[in-house]
Amino acid sequence: MSRKILVTSALPYANGAIHLGHLVEYIQTDIWVRFQKMRGHSCHYVCADDTHGTPIMLRAEKEGITPEALIERVHGEHLRDFTGFHVAFDNYYSTNSAENRQFAYDIYAKLKANGKIVSRTISQLYDPQKNMFLPDRFVKGECPKCGAKDQYGDNCEVCGATYQPTELKNPYSAVSGATPVLRDSEHFFFRLGECEDFLKGWTTGATTVNGAERARLQEGAANKMQEWFDAGLNDWDISRDAPYFGFEIPDAPGKYFYVWLDAPVGYMASHKNLCDRLGLDFDEYWNKDSSAELYHFIGKDILYFHALFWPAMLEYSGYRTPTGINAHGFLTVDGAKMSKSRGTFITAESYLRHLNPEWLRYYFAAKLNSAIEDIDLNLEDFAARVNSDLIGKYVNIASRAAGFISKRFGGELARDLGDAPVLAKLQAAGDELAQLIENREFSRAIRDIMALTDEVNQFVDANKPWEMAKQEGMDAELQRVCSILINAFRLLTIYLKPVLPRLAADVEAFLNIAPLRWVDAGSLLLAHCINPYSHLMTRIDPKAIEAMVEENKQALAPIETKPALDYDVPPIAETISIDDFMKVDLRVAKIVEAKAVEGADKLVSLTLDIGNETRHVFAGIKSAYKPEDLQGRLTVMVANLAPRKMKFGLSEGMVLAGGGDGGLYILSPDSGAKPGMRVK
Ligand code: MSP
Ligand code: ZN
Repeated sequence: MSRKILVTSALPYANGAIHLGHLVEYIQTDIWVRFQKMRGHSCHYVCADDTHGTPIMLRAEKEGITPEALIERVHGEHLRDFTGFHVAFDNYYSTNSAENRQFAYDIYAKLKANGKIVSRTISQLYDPQKNMFLPDRFVKGECPKCGAKDQYGDNCEVCGATYQPTELKNPYSAVSGATPVLRDSEHFFFRLGECEDFLKGWTTGATTVNGAERARLQEGAANKMQEWFDAGLNDWDISRDAPYFGFEIPDAPGKYFYVWLDAPVGYMASHKNLCDRLGLDFDEYWNKDSSAELYHFIGKDILYFHALFWPAMLEYSGYRTPTGINAHGFLTVDGAKMSKSRGTFITAESYLRHLNPEWLRYYFAAKLNSAIEDIDLNLEDFAARVNSDLIGKYVNIASRAAGFISKRFGGELARDLGDAPVLAKLQAAGDELAQLIENREFSRAIRDIMALTDEVNQFVDANKPWEMAKQEGMDAELQRVCSILINAFRLLTIYLKPVLPRLAADVEAFLNIAPLRWVDAGSLLLAHCINPYSHLMTRIDPKAIEAMVEENKQALAPIETKPALDYDVPPIAETISIDDFMKVDLRVAKIVEAKAVEGADKLVSLTLDIGNETRHVFAGIKSAYKPEDLQGRLTVMVANLAPRKMKFGLSEGMVLAGGGDGGLYILSPDSGAKPGMRVK
């Protein structure tokens, strides 16, 4: 029976580039959707950019453009990146659209009519210089628990404490640096607490899909929900004050929907836009007793929004709720969180400059399962696995058989394959593989497909077509063996097609066949003419991976807001001429000896090598440096300062250091500088 399926991935924020972490989700979803389409089901995959909110507003301001111009540019970049990875949305839309406004208003009005919206005055931190309320992320200060500086308004990255932004010590606005003040404002709240009974039933309940009972949530997600129920559900603040980039709330001038209110509504908007384009019936998918299936693929970080707020919003505005929420874990690279300094925060764009997207699709598929587990991209394992599985095992089958078929049999496959247990086994595997992919057990499916590939290669080694080709009277057998191999390759291609769509299209051209569907595994190619084989896929060159990582190390950090300074910056001194400056003779100096000075608690005695002579200097840096740490270092000294007689001896110059209240830091030249070089 053909199913009606609507699938979404989370809507990426329109203020940043797509990176490999995002791609875990879009590739996982795309594989699942392509599989459903190959199975002959009606399946639509919709997504959009998530365009609203303070970060996007401020980012546009920084770039000196309107938010509309920013989100339009990013929309193009995101779609380009997804297309580059063969992520094939049926529609990639925007939350800043007429459809989205209409649905957001409609849902809000219905929630209000159902008594699910209340207003309340709350007190919040306000930036008096920028004239705006500050979201938690835009307030910084000292952690109330451990005192660490420059921590965000909601949690401390040093000690892990969570708190209210009002608890920060010495808070400052990350937007302007001003000290925030408390200010009252009226906000609208969604009464989530009142939805508790519904949500408890919804999260633990099952739906019937295709005649079988299926849980709406994964086990890990259901457990998380229980924790949230135990902690108690709080009403949800869904409004924000101007200035804000978003939808203004009807009948509440100056109040806007919080970005997370209209973001999931964006799923509907994108689907509605698709339906209007294709002449499909939107209501058939979204009405309360719709028989269509609706799945949201998301990351574990946004489960709260999708498993609590979203079903409650839908339920109390009269729409259907999701059939399932499929959450995945986070991507780590080489066992650690993606890092800009290590070059492992890899953008989709830079990956595509160096590597083939299907290599990553394959690797992710080989790692993904249906649980909410983090997955690791180990760059060495990535190259080894792709080269061994895809090139060494799979593509190799075609390249070993095709030459003989073209050269010896005019491209024609045998009419009769005789007894071919290896093909029977490949064909029989289809149902089980389909079950695994349906259940998002991609890694088990890939493992099984590779085990089948191994068997095909064993068949090659047992029959040795290259030897048969040299023997008289073996033509028919050679054609039969190679035709079995081509058929085996075709069957494996069917099973890998959701993961490797580009490669599968090339295989279809090579085999001279129509686009492969899952049912095609039930048949074989007999007495069929194929095209000459041309290269299907190359091996990963580890150098390309290195080059990519190197490039990402140099990538620009996103535009950061400048925090307020926590030390004093003295005013700049009176202007001098270049001649005045040149009077000061600065030299690179090597500290050949550094020792404490008996009876002086601030001074260090330094012996400095400045090329042709040695100087002896007393420096007031004992509070910042241990003498032994200075020995051997290069620094900069004033070499023509009049010598000064001190209590402990003669000081023949001065070493340069920056600082004041915030500490003392002696200067060092870049490596390569030599003692005695003049600094100017
Ligand atoms: N805009 C929200 C989603 C709104 S959905 C109505 C958002 N955007 S996001 O750009 O931050 O993330 C988009 C998706 O990518 C999320 O599902 C998120 O979990 C996922 N990922 C972002 N970084 C990720 C990793 N490092 N690893 C795996 N998935 C990650 O959240
Ligand atoms: Zn702390």
